[in-house]
Amino acid sequence: MTMPLTEPGTVPPTLVKDPLWWRSAVIYQVYVRSFADSDGDGTGDLRGVRSRLGYLKELGVDALWFNPWYPSPLADGGYDVSDYRDIHPTFGTLEDAELLITEALELGIRTIIDIVPNHLSSEHPWFRAALAAGPGSPERGRFWFHPGKGPNGDEMPTSWISNFQGDTWTRTVNPDGTPGEWYLHLFTPEQPDLNWNHPDVRREHEDILRFWFDRGVAGVRIDSAGLLIKDPALPEVPAEVPPGGHPTEDRDEVHDVYRSWRRIADSYEGTRVLVGEVWVPDAQRFAAYLRPDEMHTAFNFDFMSRPWDAAELRASIDLMLAAHAPVGAPSTWVLSNHDVTRPVTRYGREDSSFAFARKRFGTPTDLDLGRRRARAAALLTAALPGSLYLYQGDELGLPEVELPREVLEDPMHFRSGGVDPGRDGCRVPLPWRGVAAPFGFSPEVPGGDGTVAAPWLPQPAEWAALTVQAQESDPASMLWLYRQALRIRRREGSLGDGTLTWLPSDPTALVFQRGDDVVNVTNLGTAPMALPDHDRILLSSTPLVGGMLPPDSTAWLHRPA
Ligand code: GLC
Ligand code: MG
Repeated sequence: MTMPLTEPGTVPPTLVKDPLWWRSAVIYQVYVRSFADSDGDGTGDLRGVRSRLGYLKELGVDALWFNPWYPSPLADGGYDVSDYRDIHPTFGTLEDAELLITEALELGIRTIIDIVPNHLSSEHPWFRAALAAGPGSPERGRFWFHPGKGPNGDEMPTSWISNFQGDTWTRTVNPDGTPGEWYLHLFTPEQPDLNWNHPDVRREHEDILRFWFDRGVAGVRIDSAGLLIKDPALPEVPAEVPPGGHPTEDRDEVHDVYRSWRRIADSYEGTRVLVGEVWVPDAQRFAAYLRPDEMHTAFNFDFMSRPWDAAELRASIDLMLAAHAPVGAPSTWVLSNHDVTRPVTRYGREDSSFAFARKRFGTPTDLDLGRRRARAAALLTAALPGSLYLYQGDELGLPEVELPREVLEDPMHFRSGGVDPGRDGCRVPLPWRGVAAPFGFSPEVPGGDGTVAAPWLPQPAEWAALTVQAQESDPASMLWLYRQALRIRRREGSLGDGTLTWLPSDPTALVFQRGDDVVNVTNLGTAPMALPDHDRILLSSTPLVGGMLPPDSTAWLHRPA
């Protein structure tokens, strides 16, 4: 096994240079299971990622965020962790992870891992011990075990609704076979919630952070970060929730957890960052997570949830920049991730906003329109002040896949009674090359008969036109657009962290200046628009027509300072 990277004298230069890297970074999200498969089992793995680091370098990203890569029964795609200090055997070994972190750093790319503190897997040793030890045991104190209501205890302690729909409590069976206590799970029953009032839980997670920081990770993405603390009185959710008054969401006490995590992060060389998955609709309460002694940044889901509409997007930009300013944190810009409908699909729909509750099979989609808008959105978000997230496959313009029901795995689908298609459609393995599935995702097994394993989710035949190989030779492709945009973003000092100034424009356009010399123009109207003064066009998501910017397009202009 390789040595932890932060042994004295071994901190790689990439980790310590540029302490403010996270304020402007472009962070590429790797869904390991679907990125690249090295061993031919149809599932992506860490060696697959290592073999494609050159591709990521060429794309121009600063950091990689890996979805959970730990041992897990995969009841929720790995967000049900059974060992926080190892790698899922299908993905590789701890040594593979250490090599990956090191090799990426050698290319100047940092690694961010996913930490899942709200819950763990029902197969985790702690939960198994809790079930075995029975009611009232110290082992159960790390979770939310509770007797049921009603004379026989057969009613749930509360009627809280799961984030995946349905119940949040499951009844246990006592070691002697009689019906027992209930335990809380805000997600599936395979994901019991931890009790963050328990010192073991806090200590354990602090130790897990150190374990990975010692191995050279540059940051952690904190899953379901607003949910950790529960009201121990277990009240029902009030009809009108006062600020901080929800029994399981965004409680004020949660901030203590991140203050202690920040102290740990700050004790390491190089800036190790905390990035929160904070679904808190109130912009001020959201920004409270980003106070100087808490997290560095959090995912901006407001922008991602809005429809393709100039007034809506402008309102979101203003809202989020204003919310971040008082705490001194940069905003993030996020068009998608492994939980949401791909932008090419979303922006091609009549309702182009995003909400989990509205996902349906068979929603009519104009993919040409969606692709045009996704290209425009790519440049728009890359021009906004702060850091940028790019979910794997969006750089190829992959659409959401409407998979056959029999291959679906996502618990969100099943817990909706089959109404919600779930999140598998944005998790289909990437197409790398060739004209037929698996499009280079998996290698041929050496010495085999030439057959290749089927990818764990099937890829559509139309993806032949969207492979990396096909796009690399097409300057009009999404991949070229992203490569050029990220190159320009890195080169132009005005982009990335900073402020923006809105320039006068028609209300159907988003026109703003960054620094002294870069102007973003996004046309969300229905007619071509004239461009403001400039001396050069840096990049445009659609070719200009007679010097005019077509609808659903973005151009970046250079103007003399
Ligand atoms: C986060 C993850 C999602 C997961 C959930 C429960 O929202 O992004 O994929 O299902 O947390 O861990
Ligand atoms: Mg594999």
